[in-house]
Amino acid sequence: MPSENSLSIVILAAGEGSRMRSKAAKVLFPICGRPMLSYVLDAALALDPDRIVVVVGHKGDDVVEAIRHTWIPQNPRAAKPGVLEFAWQKEQKGTGHAVMCAKEVLESSSGLMLVLYGDTPLLSGDLLQGFRDYHVAKGASLSLISFTPEDMGAYGRVVRNEQGGVERIVEARDLTPAEAGISEANAGMYITRTGLMFDLLSEVKNDNAKGEYYLTDIVHIARGRGMQVSAFTAPDAQAVQGVNDRYALSLAEGAVRRDILRKLSLEGVTVRDPSSTYIDFGVEVSPDTVIEPQTYLRGATRIGCGCVIGPGTEIIDSTVGDGSKIWFSVVEESIVGKNVQIGPYSHIRPNATLEEGALVGNFAEVKNTVLGKGTKAHHHCYLGDSTIGAGVNIGAGTVTVNYDGTRKHRTIIEDGAFIGCNANLIAPVTIGKDAYVAAGSTITDDVPPLSLAIARERQVVKEGWVTQRREKGR
Ligand code: UD1
Ligand code: CA
Repeated sequence: MPSENSLSIVILAAGEGSRMRSKAAKVLFPICGRPMLSYVLDAALALDPDRIVVVVGHKGDDVVEAIRHTWIPQNPRAAKPGVLEFAWQKEQKGTGHAVMCAKEVLESSSGLMLVLYGDTPLLSGDLLQGFRDYHVAKGASLSLISFTPEDMGAYGRVVRNEQGGVERIVEARDLTPAEAGISEANAGMYITRTGLMFDLLSEVKNDNAKGEYYLTDIVHIARGRGMQVSAFTAPDAQAVQGVNDRYALSLAEGAVRRDILRKLSLEGVTVRDPSSTYIDFGVEVSPDTVIEPQTYLRGATRIGCGCVIGPGTEIIDSTVGDGSKIWFSVVEESIVGKNVQIGPYSHIRPNATLEEGALVGNFAEVKNTVLGKGTKAHHHCYLGDSTIGAGVNIGAGTVTVNYDGTRKHRTIIEDGAFIGCNANLIAPVTIGKDAYVAAGSTITDDVPPLSLAIARERQVVKEGWVTQRREKGR
């Protein structure tokens, strides 16, 4: 049964986000690799609410899908049946109307209701906790968060009465000249009792510049009934910043990025140049690793300790073991073991496994391939669809010829084999243990262990050929 102390959180995410000038849903724009809305959901979940209702509408199917696939798996608590629900706002008639759309879902809830907007990604659970405590301590009927932004922009203004009490909120478009100088903005977070919220909303009208049902109107409606409305000042103005356009998005991303880098630095990771280092939310980096400039660590990436990553490196959805060094290279969806060296200028494409001590260097490409312990592919080569054992030496210019124009085939190179420079290994083919492939060979047949395969024309030397040619006057 819902209790008087229960908490429901409604997050509005149905708006068109027209100022983004995009076909995509605003709340799904990524910030450090995850949707903006995920950050708001994290802050909401930190309050341990009984339910979270996300109101979706514009591109709503995309929003539901993204949250189910990206946010829920990272927050198993959110997967608890009934915690996260979606309500639909079919037509975008304003923020007040959007909250109304959650009425059906929340009909049976009592207790407190906190309303958040899905476009304030810098919110934190601590800030919301402080807000809830403030509201309870004040004993107000309705509380909101206000702040003093650097740029008042399109924020709603908090209008106070002569006694300093909150009287109403005026949207930027509806400001009178007398209200234009107000520097206290509405952050867009409100808390009240669930029943009272819907009761106040039932009186909201759309007689304003935008012809929308403004949630902000509940303030003067509550005041009109003689209720107390209090405003909690956000301790950090940045934390409640809204994202309406792509410039604000870049500022928000900058703030999240700095937070990520600061946290890693305090945990013992050296970030040589924070201004040119981009690390996604959720990437793990262990202590004593150095991140050199111009480095990008994205998605589900984990880096061990004592590594040197960069300069000029991008690692996506990959794991890197302790003590590895990767410079001027790209690694995607791969597993890199301990003490591996990659680069400069190498591309490790999806599904590669580089075991301990392997070395891939100078203009090498590896794809869907296992490189065994201590195996070296130090210069210009392409290793695709291959299983390569331990202690193998891959000469410069080696190519696994894996594609016949229709299908891909595997190359197997067993432990200790030596592949000479400029060898073409036409797959499917197996090079046996400790076997040698002579430089310049095009290998079409399996090479047994401990043997040497030479597949090239014998050299012909024509002594005195140049002298004879000269004598003929050519
Ligand atoms: C809103 C506030 C403004 C406040 C600012 C803080 C209103 C009327 N104005 O303005 O006082 O200073 O936030 O950032 O509330 N949404 C819906 N359905 C709709 C319309 C909007 O779900 O029909 C959602 C949007 O997806 C967004 C949120 O509500 O996540 C806020 O809407 P937005 O249009 O961004 O409001 P602002 O103009 O920023
Ligand atoms: Ca907004």
